Amino acid sequence: MCGIIGYVGARPCKELVLTGLEHLEYRGYDSAGLVLADAAGLERARAVGPVAALREAAAGLQGTATVGMGHTRWATHGGVEERNAHPFLSEDGRFAVLMNGIFENYVELRAEVAEHGHELSSDTDTEALVHLLEEAYDGDLAQTVRRLYPRLEGHFAFLAICLDEPDRIVGARLAWPPLVVGRGEGETFLASFTPAFLEETRSIQVVDEGEVVIATAAGVEFRAVDDWSVREHPVEQADESLEVAAKGGYETFMLKEIHEQPTAVADTIAERFHHGELHLDGIGLTDDELREINRVLVVGCGTALHAGLAGRYLIEEWAGVATEADVASEWRYRNGVFDPRTLVLAISQSGETADTLAAMQIAKERGARVVAITNIMGSAIARAADGVLYTRAGLEIGVAATKTFTSQVTLMTLLALHLGAVRGTLSPDEVASIGEELSALPELIQRELDDEAMDRQLDLLADRFAHDRFFLYLGRHLGLPICQEGALKLKEISYIPTDAYAAGEMKHGPIALLGEDTPVVAVATDSHVFEKMASNLEEVRARGAHVIAVATEGNTQIERHAEHVIRIPATRPELQPILAVVPLQILAYKIAGRLGLDVDRPRNLAKTVTVE
Ligand code: F6R
Repeated sequence: MCGIIGYVGARPCKELVLTGLEHLEYRGYDSAGLVLADAAGLERARAVGPVAALREAAAGLQGTATVGMGHTRWATHGGVEERNAHPFLSEDGRFAVLMNGIFENYVELRAEVAEHGHELSSDTDTEALVHLLEEAYDGDLAQTVRRLYPRLEGHFAFLAICLDEPDRIVGARLAWPPLVVGRGEGETFLASFTPAFLEETRSIQVVDEGEVVIATAAGVEFRAVDDWSVREHPVEQADESLEVAAKGGYETFMLKEIHEQPTAVADTIAERFHHGELHLDGIGLTDDELREINRVLVVGCGTALHAGLAGRYLIEEWAGVATEADVASEWRYRNGVFDPRTLVLAISQSGETADTLAAMQIAKERGARVVAITNIMGSAIARAADGVLYTRAGLEIGVAATKTFTSQVTLMTLLALHLGAVRGTLSPDEVASIGEELSALPELIQRELDDEAMDRQLDLLADRFAHDRFFLYLGRHLGLPICQEGALKLKEISYIPTDAYAAGEMKHGPIALLGEDTPVVAVATDSHVFEKMASNLEEVRARGAHVIAVATEGNTQIERHAEHVIRIPATRPELQPILAVVPLQILAYKIAGRLGLDVDRPRNLAKTVTVE
């Protein structure tokens, strides 16, 4: 999603702004721009494509300005064109604006400024604001922003500069798009996300929604939009480190993150299961309340939803509670029926996904208890929930989620165990024995990652199938969400169309897709549905398709049903998904590599989807 950086201080800031934008690149964007303000006026550069292209476009700018701001854009309103890239300038050249978010009433705002005679140079919602500022300006930028704020509907964080007050940047925030202040010596940064300025300062303050922020070299002032009272925010020390953003010797972030899974899963378990005992602090519901729950609804998007779909089986199996998992963007528009005994689990790596946030807010309004599962402390979803369970995967930069997925499934496993323990559907011995096996998973994932034979086999499969036009993934029970995740990984980084289906449904349609050489990836690990999977694979083979099966070490039957078998370590069936997804991630990675694609920045995708 869009990224924002602003600087006010004593140093020439062109380079600071460009570097800040580079630190935001991982979030995904399609164009970028910056504006520099000094006595001579506002200087702007914009470019479609990477920040490197903006660097070139900005090469001719003076570079002495000590006030400036930059933006990475992920197109929402208006195509990917330079004229739609932020920042936008007023026609008189005195005002500049950039934004992360959406003005939902942009049609009305654009019509209004056009009616007042302004020439709109872009198709964006944001541009309307710069013309409104120019019209409404009364000598005080912050007060002008305050007056306009109630007219702006939607969710946003924006920054504005006015040449009449060249010593400051004024910003404002509504709803979830974040805005953070970085406090330096005689200088102030503003950004959508802290990595933008962490190299310069780790002292941060968070701008709340409904606030206007006035940043100067000397400091920062937070004002409530409604009564203009001064708000105080503590200065905190940011703990995300830029070091984690370095690739640490791996050729891509995605590969690094695949290899971080043993640690991510181990850290997610850590003290939550210790000496045979399970503790799930932060859940926000008492044991009595958890005993009262009669239904669980999991909402999320993409990979996070797949983790929820896996968790669904475990909650039903161990805690005996009816559980559903649904796409947040669909669920929010359904008339979902539930009561205060429904527990809603909102899963989101970023904690900022617009649809997941909206779904949980609706659930709260209708009286449900909401627990968030997220990787980002203090994120919008974490703040809006009654309780929060954090995955501890560390910052994930690769756009395709890997370590956050296995951490989410781990946390869902812990949660299902906890519900089972509290509700008495699992005995303390059962909890202890499952917990022990769960704690052994990081070592087993490490074994998979160190398994040279598996790596060679995945290389051969990638060589053989990288140029195929379609992949079908088949699974049953807990294998199904793993297929869905494997299929998503392949399509998002290799752009090869994939479908993931419940194997039992194959006969009801997708079997028509199978041709002589179609690669079919099957999750066929040991479980009560293994025999059923084996029959489905026979149906696939009878159509001449190639079966690539992920199966459990020691299973002697699978060879009869699959042309290629990827062996993963044995564990109890309920825990197999965490191991089964790893070779599927690596297969997708290797295929994308064979196709020469940039796996860390797949086309059209953003790491955080803060728009609906
Ligand atoms: C796929 C992927 C996406 C996200 C989805 C939800 O690799 O990363 O499908 O899972 O956009 O994002 P979060 O988890 O941040 O809510």
